[in-house]
Order: sequence, then C-alpha cells, then structure tokens
Amino acid sequence: MNRRFLFVLGSSRPDGNTELLAREAAAQLPAEVEQQWIRLAEHPLPDFVDLRHDSDHVRPPADTTAGLLLDSTLAATDIVIASPLYWYSVSGHTKRYLDYWSAWLRTPGVDFKATMAGRTLWGITALADREPSVADPLVGTLNNSAAYLGMHFGGVLLGSGSAPGDVREDTDALTRAKTFFAQEAPLARFPHQRA
Ligand SMILES: Cc1cc2nc3c(=O)[nH]c(=O)nc-3n(C[C@H](O)[C@H](O)[C@H](O)COP(=O)(O)O)c2cc1C
Repeated sequence: MNRRFLFVLGSSRPDGNTELLAREAAAQLPAEVEQQWIRLAEHPLPDFVDLRHDSDHVRPPADTTAGLLLDSTLAATDIVIASPLYWYSVSGHTKRYLDYWSAWLRTPGVDFKATMAGRTLWGITALADREPSVADPLVGTLNNSAAYLGMHFGGVLLGSGSAPGDVREDTDALTRAKTFFAQEAPLARFPHQRA
C-alpha cells in the first residue's frame, strides 16, 4: 500500500505555528507520498454523542463532515495530529475528532480497529511554554490512543511559539522537522507495557 499522510489540523486559527511546523515536516516527504490536509475548524464536527450502550452507530454519509473525516482516516497509512497545546493537551477540535474514533470503532461495516492496526500515528504541536515536558499529557493522549488501536507511534514534534509565525524562530524545532517523518515509528505501547 502506498503511503498516504492525513494531516489533521486542530488549531482554532489558520496559519498558526502548529500548521507551519507541520508544513516544514511534510515538505521532506517524498513526492510519491500522498498528502491530505484537513483543518478541523473549517469542518466542524457536531457534538459527539455517546451511543455505546443505546443503539448502533451508523456510518456517516460521505457528504458530511464526519463522513469526510472517517473516509480520510481510513484511507491514510499515516495520521498526523497537528494540534496546538491547549491546557497541556490537544485542542478541543482535535479532542472531538478523537472522540469520533470511539463511534467509528462501533460502526458496523467499518472495521475501524482492524483497519487502523499497523498504521502510524504522529503528533505535531506548538506551545508557548519553553519547557517541553509540559506537553506530556498531549504526548500521552496520542501514544495511548495509538496503543489502544494497535498502531505505530512516531512521537510528537514540538515547537515553541505564542503568536503566529513565532515557531520560525525555534530553529531546533525546524531542524527536527526535517527528519521527523524519516524516523522509525515503533508499535505503540502503554506505559505499563514498557519493559
Ligand atoms: C485555549 C488555549 C490554551 C493554551 N494552553 C497552553 C498551554 O497549556 N501551554 C502552553 O505552553 N501554551 C498554551 N497555549 C498557547 C498555544 O499553545 C500557542 O500560542 C501555540 O503557538 C498555538 O498554536 P497555533 O499557532 O498553531 O494555533 C494556549 C493557547 C490557547 C488559545
């Protein structure tokens, strides 16, 4: 299967630091790797409803936001969550997209878990703080979500910046972006499963 990257942009503003960093990293991908970019703010998902114990989920029609996101997710070998750090974790737009994974796991005919197993999740985030460890909750959310689905996890590319464009001054982050997607992405493990 040819590699196909889905970039899920979770910022609440266009052209922010996270997207800039994601575009730096994506620029290094070989030309034959397909890229799809979706700004969640331009495709707002309806409030997530937990139907797990009430009724079956139905597959969302392709012409809805949920249908677009589901089809794009299933088609991707690599999913890049490009979310700014909001309150030490992913943004609300991003969290809602991840909440929908729970619905897709239970949608008859989708086979979400089997399809996602073996694929790769990556994270890219911008944060105002200079201390990278404050993003540990975001890293944990993505790592554990990948582990839950049997995915590989390529880690999280972090960049510093507050106002849009600030991340251009984080030269270390720009350097890391150049090789980010070239890294080996091991099978994700929950922290308690690590040796
Ligand atoms: C709602 C909100 C919450 C934020 N929470 C944090 C945070 O917990 N830690 C941090 O370092 N920066 C935080 N920031 C700053 C953003 O992470 C920072 O401005 C980042 O560059 C935004 O990325 P963007 O330009 O891609 O939107 C927050 C910003 C907003 C709007």
